[in-house]
Amino acid sequence: MSCTTNNATPPGPAVAPGAEGIDPARVAERLALEHGPGGMDPRVASITPGFDAPFFQAGLAGYSDAAMRIIARRHGCPYCVTEALLDRALLAGGRGFAKADLGELHDNVPGGEEDQPLAGQIMGSDPAEMAAGAVKMIEQAARAAKDYRLLAYGPSGHWDDPEGPQHLRLPGGVQLGRVDPSTAPPSVPSSLRASVPSSSSPSVPSCLRASVPSFSSIDINLACPVKKISRKARGGHWLAEPDGAIAILEAVRDAVPPEIACTLKIRRSFDDTPEMAENFWTIVDAAYRMGYAWATVHARTVEQKYVGPSRWDLLREIVLRLRRDDPSRIIFGSGDIWSVGDIFRMIEYTGVNGASVARGCIGNPWIFRQARDLLAGRDPSPPTIAEQRRVLEEHFGLALAVNANMRKSEVFTGRTMRKFGIRFAEHHPRTDEVRRAFIGVDSLEDWRRVLEAHYGSA
Ligand SMILES: Cc1cc2nc3c(=O)[nH]c(=O)nc-3n(C[C@H](O)[C@H](O)[C@H](O)COP(=O)(O)O)c2cc1C
Repeated sequence: MSCTTNNATPPGPAVAPGAEGIDPARVAERLALEHGPGGMDPRVASITPGFDAPFFQAGLAGYSDAAMRIIARRHGCPYCVTEALLDRALLAGGRGFAKADLGELHDNVPGGEEDQPLAGQIMGSDPAEMAAGAVKMIEQAARAAKDYRLLAYGPSGHWDDPEGPQHLRLPGGVQLGRVDPSTAPPSVPSSLRASVPSSSSPSVPSCLRASVPSFSSIDINLACPVKKISRKARGGHWLAEPDGAIAILEAVRDAVPPEIACTLKIRRSFDDTPEMAENFWTIVDAAYRMGYAWATVHARTVEQKYVGPSRWDLLREIVLRLRRDDPSRIIFGSGDIWSVGDIFRMIEYTGVNGASVARGCIGNPWIFRQARDLLAGRDPSPPTIAEQRRVLEEHFGLALAVNANMRKSEVFTGRTMRKFGIRFAEHHPRTDEVRRAFIGVDSLEDWRRVLEAHYGSA
């Protein structure tokens, strides 16, 4: 199970009457003049240092692992979001860690210094578990230090093991945080807040005090359309149950140290009924009131999944109303960003501070380079065959490194890289032939054979 469904729509324009007349180069020029070379509102960079341009790589379950993120960053992407991780999987530890049902957790290990700033996205059904999951992600320093998998848990290996404190215990037994399982949601157990020391506290081991990369922010997923589990809401289904959504937002904001930003990803509504549209406002207004730094609004309904156009016309109305209530609100937009022009068209048409790039960057990291080109007043060019080859080699190498701890890591990497290869092939003049060649890849050697055959000699 993941945030994906099989009925995704092929690339097409959003509903945005009049947007076709917008010149992306003019928009980029205006942004660079207003905000400096990166073109980003400086308030965003003051919340998340390094987030200096008005676009980022979205969470994409099954794709946006550390390898894809680093490739994006090397092409100018200033900020990335992990795929959504289930709170339960984060808390379960042991095998639950390795096998989250939204993809493999090790996919989301921050890729070191180069993979910063990075938002860790969580999704779930229970406020206390979401809060504990968020705290656990923040203690990512231990995981980056490769100690994370050695964390000690209670005898059953589960976060709610009644026999003792379980989660966030480092090798050596230092307890960084705990959840009191007897405390019912929606309140976050005070034990959790009390027992999470700041990283400068003397009780924190030196490996955590060192400036090891961690998540710069926590993003709450209120957008995933995948159905409820055991009659419990999660992801976008919270748009039909606003009180539950607000309880989660509150619990996470309370548990996460104030210096770490919390943000949310949300659909524009559950469906097109007025009641559901009202729920959006109830949730989003509450989030901003609680201090959430920004919302990224996917301009499709949950019911739409990924099918049909996104509604930039409605996103524009949402932005207008959010800013009417408080002009300082930061808002990002998602939906139907397929080319570099779409990034700047969305910003101009809807008034968002920036665009979340999702399907449009799978096999297309050049969209970020092209966006930087426009901001610098250059014509964006398509990738040459030599550039494509370099990236294809680099991406495979990074993916191998990310998967290094797996059994049969090369075969696994080869198989997962196929889906990237198929998308990369769209830039090749013989798309169909190259796509077919990538479909047969099982190993690094196979991958290299495709490159030799179709992308010129190394
Ligand atoms: C394969 C796939 C996986 C996704 N996984 C996530 C996810 O884990 N977290 C998230 O916030 N959004 C996820 N999304 C939603 C995207 O971030 C984005 O909001 C959506 O695709 C709309 O943008 P687009 O039309 O430009 O692709 C996913 C979308 C797809 C197609």
